[in-house]
Amino acid sequence: MKKWTKEERYRVLKSAEEIRELHERTVLSDYRQHYHIQSVTGLLNDPNGFVFYDNVWHLFYQWCPWGAVHGLKYWYHTASKDLVTWENRGVCICPGTEFDNKGAYSGSALPADGFVYLYYTGNHRDEDWTRKSYTCLAELRSGKAFKLPPLFGPNENYTEHQRDPKIIYREENGKYYIILGAQTKDKKGCIIIYSSDSPTEGWSFAGQLKVPGFEDFGDMWECPSIETISGYDVLIFCPQHLSIRGRGGAVHHSGYLLGHMDWDKLIFNPDNTSFHVLDFGFDSYAAECAANPNDRSKATLVAWMGLPDASYPTDEEEWSGCLTLPRELRVRERRLIQQPLDELRALRGKKLDLEATDILPRVCELELICRGGDLSLRLFAKEDGSGGLVVSYDDSAREITVDRSELERRFNTELGEQRTRPLPKGLFHLRFFIDRSSVELFVNDGDAVFSSRIFPVEGESRLIIDGDASAHLWELGRAVEDDFVV
Ligand code: FRU
Repeated sequence: MKKWTKEERYRVLKSAEEIRELHERTVLSDYRQHYHIQSVTGLLNDPNGFVFYDNVWHLFYQWCPWGAVHGLKYWYHTASKDLVTWENRGVCICPGTEFDNKGAYSGSALPADGFVYLYYTGNHRDEDWTRKSYTCLAELRSGKAFKLPPLFGPNENYTEHQRDPKIIYREENGKYYIILGAQTKDKKGCIIIYSSDSPTEGWSFAGQLKVPGFEDFGDMWECPSIETISGYDVLIFCPQHLSIRGRGGAVHHSGYLLGHMDWDKLIFNPDNTSFHVLDFGFDSYAAECAANPNDRSKATLVAWMGLPDASYPTDEEEWSGCLTLPRELRVRERRLIQQPLDELRALRGKKLDLEATDILPRVCELELICRGGDLSLRLFAKEDGSGGLVVSYDDSAREITVDRSELERRFNTELGEQRTRPLPKGLFHLRFFIDRSSVELFVNDGDAVFSSRIFPVEGESRLIIDGDASAHLWELGRAVEDDFVV
């Protein structure tokens, strides 16, 4: 595998021509997705600035052009009218200036009058590589980002880890808030809050968010957000370096607390003591939400189908990463429910007859109505019926498990190859969205989600269903183009 020097990783992209050849090689990969957002070259990580503006959904992501490596990060812009079909719009925020000399890191968007504000972290490094995070602002006008002066610099009472501004406007008091993921000097993950009467100036530190019961929960909280969904406040964040039951050796998580946010006292009071994992699959991180333009109490979530400090089989092909499908969020029985958007049905092509074939297309949707009892499925099993991605439901334990260990191409094995989630009410419904190198599984109508990258090889092609269920299988069409827009 390529060893990257700092100079190579942090090189500034001067012209699209520098990566044309890399793009041409990348698109030949057997693992390029057909309906998930992926980068033109190099590495994609967090989704950023997800917003509905001027009748279009805008979604940006962290992009390092040079290869499957975390280096200089750009904001790359994609857009969609229906949240299903996406078009590449090209680079949006370019790093490399004074305050973001080593990256335009994650952030969020706020629609304004005739344009959109983009808030992001300017990852600045001094010559001696000391990091300083600036909370930066740009205006998106006619598809181009114009940088404004940074809103504020690093907070000296926290370590260098402070980033990922989420902008929140509160109609009640006409105030703007920015919440940042941060780390206290004694290495505890937390959220710090700034406020202002204006989106562009006058920002000052308001305090550290109090989250009773979560004072010692990981050493850094990345990508925080507070959303209001079905009348609940939902605090979404990514705690790092901690173990969670059922999550194998994974140490970075993406999850949420349901409760009530007191903006006057800056306290988030969780309803109970549970941190809920957002996605039980192997690859999901840095979720980003967009408000629904027609109903402010609803939100749509998208996440990076990947993890920090992990590697993937396509690293050898010099590219990595894709986003999850956008999902509609609602609250049911004090839990977030994540459902695939209805609009996705437009991608359905031919319905396949499972009596006649057991070949699982590489791009398809599979639905199972389960009638009770144990159930076991193998996706991309071998000719002899062994192997594949194993999904099994144990009715006596009332648990569902996704097991990646029997696929030929194994990776990130040290993080564990099984993920289990209890289903106290049993199993009644499974819906899989399969793309060329991923599987997203929605269990019981969005009660649990498992998003995972998989990399089937030749000979891994069968679908095996063992249990009492009726199954429906559709081919799915293309919704992203692999065109070279930089
Ligand atoms: C999360 C993260 C963010 C940061 C970004 C850099 O994956 O580490 O905290 O802003 O990625 O690409």
